[in-house]
Amino acid sequence: MPISRKIDGYLANASWIRKLFEEGNRMRAEGGGPVYDFSIGNPELEPPALFKETLTRLAADASGGMHRYMSNVGYDETRAAVAGSLSSDYGLPFVADQVIMTVGAGGAINTALKALLDPGEEVVVSVPYFVEYRFYIDNHQGVMVAAPMRRSFDLDPDAIEAKITELTRIVLINNPHNPTGVVYPQETLDRLGEMLRRVSAGRDRPIFLIDDAPYRKLVYDIPRCTNPFSAYEHTLMATSHSKDLGLPGERIGFLAVSPRCMGWQRVAGALAFTNRTLGYVNAPALMQRVVAHLQDVTIDLGWYRRKRDLLYKELTRMGYRMPYPGGAFYIFPEAPGGDDIAFMQKLKDMRVLVVPGTGFGMRGHFRVSYCMRDEVIEGALPAFEQAIRG
Ligand SMILES: Cc1ncc(COP(=O)(O)O)c(C=O)c1O
Repeated sequence: MPISRKIDGYLANASWIRKLFEEGNRMRAEGGGPVYDFSIGNPELEPPALFKETLTRLAADASGGMHRYMSNVGYDETRAAVAGSLSSDYGLPFVADQVIMTVGAGGAINTALKALLDPGEEVVVSVPYFVEYRFYIDNHQGVMVAAPMRRSFDLDPDAIEAKITELTRIVLINNPHNPTGVVYPQETLDRLGEMLRRVSAGRDRPIFLIDDAPYRKLVYDIPRCTNPFSAYEHTLMATSHSKDLGLPGERIGFLAVSPRCMGWQRVAGALAFTNRTLGYVNAPALMQRVVAHLQDVTIDLGWYRRKRDLLYKELTRMGYRMPYPGGAFYIFPEAPGGDDIAFMQKLKDMRVLVVPGTGFGMRGHFRVSYCMRDEVIEGALPAFEQAIRG
């Protein structure tokens, strides 16, 4: 076999999301009517107009040196703009040196895991979880440990505490949450922070909280997403503009180290090193320059809120049960009959593609990603209704 046995095994159990995405492409190529594809979180909404204006202006800039290497952490102007925006969002005095520009949120998580983990150390995640976590943690010889959530799909600090051992280095959360759309209440984050502070007390290195937050600006019922930095001092945020500016293909994100983190300079220095040595070297130069002007801009939230309202109302009316989706662009209903793979298949036979909860480590549910046009959602509603009726 020409490839690693481990990767061969991973490929054999390829991600459900990617599998269904490929399936959608195949069905579209074959023809036979519309395909209602809710499989992947690839926003159809174009980025805000200011993005294209700024990109065009900066791409035409003839001053020279625009496309060179820069410091591994990114341009100072961009990091200062990010720090300013974080300070007003989270009520803490962030400075540019606490920001490291990264290749999306995925690059940010890998950069952070590499900087914090020694081989064999553990990362606690809550189930259901973003499917790539297992691979990201394995990239850095860590071990993923899964804790259950509450029945309401809120984080459960007691269940997380029950999974903490001497080897635990990181608790990795994702807020707003993929695949449920749940936004964790501030009280839950505060309880998680208290627990982490307590269990870290006797250790020579504290347990870190990583908040994977690419959907942090996509919240529909509150002005601002809940705050991990006020909950716990040893916090890193890994995020991107993939969703809040609709730029997933441009691979631009950042890591922010809490100003309250003791020894943050050392953490930031390690992140600069790992961002470089993982081979990212630095985040894309032109995109860094562009997003420096867009820190206080967000994609049209009304576009998403309308879809969230429509789907939540209609699916609830039909009899589906699901946690309340206050953010991101996902809904995670229970699969009628309990078998998520059979139910996914049933919907697929009606040309509707959803991802079984099994793909997120949790059977019995399915994920609907609603970042597409209204016609797709409206067109699929009769199939959702038919599928639950019989
Ligand atoms: C929970 C979560 N984390 C991380 C990512 C990766 O984001 P990016 O495309 O910015 O790397 C995604 C993308 O869908 C996600 O849903």
